[in-house]
Amino acid sequence: MSPQPISTPQLDLDPRDIALTQRPLERATMLPPRAFVGADVLDWELDRIFRGWVCVGHLSSVAEPGAFVTRELGPDSVLVVGGENGRPRAFLNVCRHRGARVVSEPEGRVRKRLQCPYHAWSYGLDGGLVAAPHMDGVEAFDRSCNGLLEVRCAVAGGLVMIDLSGEAPDADEHVGELLLHLDRYRLASLERAAKISYRVEANWKGIAENYNECLHCPGVHPELNALSDYRSGDEVIGAGAWCGGSMTLREDATTMATRNGHTNGRPPIEGLSEHDARSVLYFAVFPNALVSLHPDYVMLHTLWPREPGRTDVVCEWFFEPATIAGDGFDPSDAVDFWDTVNRQDWHVCELAQKGVRTRGYPAGRYSAEEVDVHAFDLMVADRYMAALREASEVPA
Ligand code: FES
Ligand SMILES: [Fe+2]
Repeated sequence: MSPQPISTPQLDLDPRDIALTQRPLERATMLPPRAFVGADVLDWELDRIFRGWVCVGHLSSVAEPGAFVTRELGPDSVLVVGGENGRPRAFLNVCRHRGARVVSEPEGRVRKRLQCPYHAWSYGLDGGLVAAPHMDGVEAFDRSCNGLLEVRCAVAGGLVMIDLSGEAPDADEHVGELLLHLDRYRLASLERAAKISYRVEANWKGIAENYNECLHCPGVHPELNALSDYRSGDEVIGAGAWCGGSMTLREDATTMATRNGHTNGRPPIEGLSEHDARSVLYFAVFPNALVSLHPDYVMLHTLWPREPGRTDVVCEWFFEPATIAGDGFDPSDAVDFWDTVNRQDWHVCELAQKGVRTRGYPAGRYSAEEVDVHAFDLMVADRYMAALREASEVPA
């Protein structure tokens, strides 16, 4: 039995508009407003962009056998579960009997089995069907062919990635040289201390664009701007489907947190250089992960498009295990700080979403300093253009 074939929706965008985004930054125009508001565009993105490598979260959420997370991508639900050997595996979250969702919670832990709530078929942590009540005497029913349908899954630098297409280039190639930075911050060894989920009334790309620039910081984030100058830091470049750069902490700040940016007694992540201990690195891993590397913790946002103008955002904070285990560990200074900044960002993303749907609004121009906004949009535009070219080459 194989999964149902899926037909690819047409991408109804004008290639001339996309070509304007693909120009060098100084001459480029932003993605066309339709890309932010068209339901058909989001359907196409879910089918083509979000069926390649997508970050579901961090390894520590699925490191224990039976620990699971579920994530919804358009019509698909994917279940990632920690295996007996500590290696996570991903499956379509659909029972092989009558198709019920096997797991409804966004995260949790089972002991040894995943049991469908409908007629109690149960599956091992390796996806194999281990019990199927009332199926005795059914002709040619082979349990070994009725396990959960596996989805390609990989771990790169502590990020758990899935590829619903099964055909994307290796995850290591996708994350590319960003791996060096993730490894330097020991992301795979860190553990989660906090999580907040948000619903944002904005397109997923608008949220990623917002993350990729700080020109709005003096006006929108006075608390953040007090801890790092909005024009500080450097661009970071390297191979892979990501973009980003650093910002430098002001002299009296040691991290991003309330209480004037002090670490609340937390030591820096093990092995960081003095330069790293004075910086915060911000990276967007295409398409849906925003990774912020701080001297003493890492914050990860994952973006989950729901509608053209609606995105669920999961924000998680990761610390050294020894720091978490220490007496009186309290991450609330880091969490509260970013919760404030997150909400400020969602507000302006929502304002922009309201604006781009205005009829007659033409795409705007980039500031010459919006290097990473353009870099992110280019990753989108290149995929749009490849599909539009492909469609135009197909004989009518
Ligand atoms: S649908 Fe899952 S056991 Fe019947
Ligand atoms: Fe912001």
